[in-house]
Amino acid sequence: MKIAIGNDHAAVEMKKEICAFLEELGHEVINFGTDTGESVNYPVYGEKVGRAVASREADCGIAICGTGVGISLAANKVKGIRAVVCSEPYSAKLAKLHNNANVLCFGARVIGIELAKMIVTEWLNAEFEGGRHADRVNMIMEIENR
Ligand code: RB5
Repeated sequence: MKIAIGNDHAAVEMKKEICAFLEELGHEVINFGTDTGESVNYPVYGEKVGRAVASREADCGIAICGTGVGISLAANKVKGIRAVVCSEPYSAKLAKLHNNANVLCFGARVIGIELAKMIVTEWLNAEFEGGRHADRVNMIMEIENR
């Protein structure tokens, strides 16, 4: 898969490790994040990841900041984006199975790299179940048109 990744200054090291992990798994990574520790604004990177996914430049996205919260809020402002913050694998898996989340977010100041890898793995490996969940996801997306 082609995966867009974005991060602010709080998540440079975790981003690098997640990129290496994704590439080891055979994915192509498009890096939209900052690569230095200089303070930057997370909305910029959340939007970049969101736009890459919404335009289908990427199949899905991963966005990391200190908590995962701010960058997810920014990504969710892009039409077509369903960004979720996950700090454990169960929610990450269900976020794909039931919610078809297309951007996964987490916090580099909240979880460690091994847990982050487990969260990424569960989310990437899960497939949207459709059916009644598709109806509900469609209801969410219709909110964008009102
Ligand atoms: C940056 O200090 C921090 O606010 C940011 O990484 C993130 O946690 C925001 O939600």
